[in-house]
Amino acid sequence: MIIAVDGTAASGKGTLAKALAAELGLAHLDTGALYRACGLTLMLEGADPSSVDEHAAEIAAKNLDFSLTKDARIRTAEAGEMASVVAAMPEVRAALLEGQRRFAYSVTPELKDGLRKGLRGAILDGRDIGTVVLPDADYKFFVDADVDIRAHRRWKELINHGSEAMLPAIMEDLVKRDERDRSRQHAPLKPADNAILVDTTEKSVEEMVRFALKAIGRQPLPGKS
Ligand code: C5P
Repeated sequence: MIIAVDGTAASGKGTLAKALAAELGLAHLDTGALYRACGLTLMLEGADPSSVDEHAAEIAAKNLDFSLTKDARIRTAEAGEMASVVAAMPEVRAALLEGQRRFAYSVTPELKDGLRKGLRGAILDGRDIGTVVLPDADYKFFVDADVDIRAHRRWKELINHGSEAMLPAIMEDLVKRDERDRSRQHAPLKPADNAILVDTTEKSVEEMVRFALKAIGRQPLPGKS
């Protein structure tokens, strides 16, 4: 089973993808972390979002240091901004595309028997998974919520992690990033034609997961969500 989860920044798509992966026994890939790691690489080289060299970005994507996808520094607003700048570059997207597809299909038992034992497929979350990366996915979700709710959730998350965060700055960052992601020429943020829309504005995490499971004809496992 292959599932694509796309959506706006801080919409809850990562939380949904992780929960569905646990419920359904699927491998999960947060593809935003790849773009963030690429952005962080350039930041560490001294680049700033207003003047990223396309060639340097392409090289960073082609030689991506995957350990950076686990680095806490990719979660800053600056790395998010940098990620969305490099994500608009077609060379960067092309460099990251194959790896995402390989991840999805190498865990399906039909293609590589038992490579990751017990996993029955994969779920990827991002912006273009249902439209470009995995257009043949069995199920596609597009997650969104009102921007003030998204900003507030992100703010709470940062505060809970002990970071200083200002709500207006977070809101501005989300709006700017979504706008850049929606309006770019290559693989823009948009729902796939056959995507199931999930509006999380008034949904708790549990309600969101239940909604998504119901939409694909599954029940939550006993004792979970
Ligand atoms: O999902 P996350 O907010 O971590 O993604 C960071 C940025 O990476 C997004 O704003 C977007 O520009 C880019 N991205 C993308 N395509 C994906 C995943 C992320 O363009 N599949």
